[in-house]
Amino acid sequence: MRPYLVTGAASGIGAAVVRLLLADGHEVLAVDRAEQPGIVQVDLADPDAVARLVADTGELAGVANVAGVPGTAPAQTVLRVNFLAARALGQALAPRLPRGAAVVNVASLAARRPGVDDATAWRLATGPDADVLDFAYTTSISGPAAYDLSKKLLVAHTTVLAAEHAAAGGRACAVSPGPVQTPIIDDFRTSMGAGVDAAEELLGRHATAEEIAAVVIFLLSPAASWVNGVDLPLDGGLLAVRTVSALGART
Ligand code: NAI
Repeated sequence: MRPYLVTGAASGIGAAVVRLLLADGHEVLAVDRAEQPGIVQVDLADPDAVARLVADTGELAGVANVAGVPGTAPAQTVLRVNFLAARALGQALAPRLPRGAAVVNVASLAARRPGVDDATAWRLATGPDADVLDFAYTTSISGPAAYDLSKKLLVAHTTVLAAEHAAAGGRACAVSPGPVQTPIIDDFRTSMGAGVDAAEELLGRHATAEEIAAVVIFLLSPAASWVNGVDLPLDGGLLAVRTVSALGART
């Protein structure tokens, strides 16, 4: 049986994706930097380790790029893990997937924040790794801004990957969660400030890892065969609430 590759598998959303896949009887190649039973230890911030993972991986049923670091990490690490590693895995592994299978990338609502303009984002999302790292260096981008950029580039890359493989029956989708109750959220409070708690006040709670994982599982599955190239916000209605209250403020 072909396994599903899941990164960020040791914690939070990735661990929930692994649990749901195993419960459905699938095989999983669970990857994380954390040392844990059942985990293939790979540091996705290291491009050589990513290349070795690609070389050592056979045929797959699908790919879930879930691993991520918050904006409290150095900008270059954020861009390497959240974008460059996910892009490298998607580009290398999408051609090895069977018809109808998917690469699912976990982005973030942070991708929608104002930051770099769309033209720059498309250039970086489709250009060499060095351009992304140079951009971070020359603009002295902060960790939090690098987080937003990494997710914006991941969404743009997902569109490109879907377009490249659609005619051959390949799929690539992103999901963009709002705040989710996982270990990363305390770092988000530090790097993103009051917005995280404000979201909880508006909705009464944060998402659970399982609520996000359930959509990732759907997108990986044949039931999502006609869902391709999309970025699904998974925010419990946060964007809707904010949109309506902004409209209300203007009337
Ligand atoms: P988490 O901290 O529970 O899990 C992240 C996992 O990624 C950890 O197991 C960690 O060891 C792994 N990881 C980090 N750096 C790595 C590296 N260099 N190599 C290999 N693995 C590495 O956090 P969570 O919430 O499960 O995050 C999963 C994804 O969801 C991330 O991409 C995050 O940006 C995204 N996200 C999370 C939100 C939240 O509020 N929790 C909101 C929006 C997006």
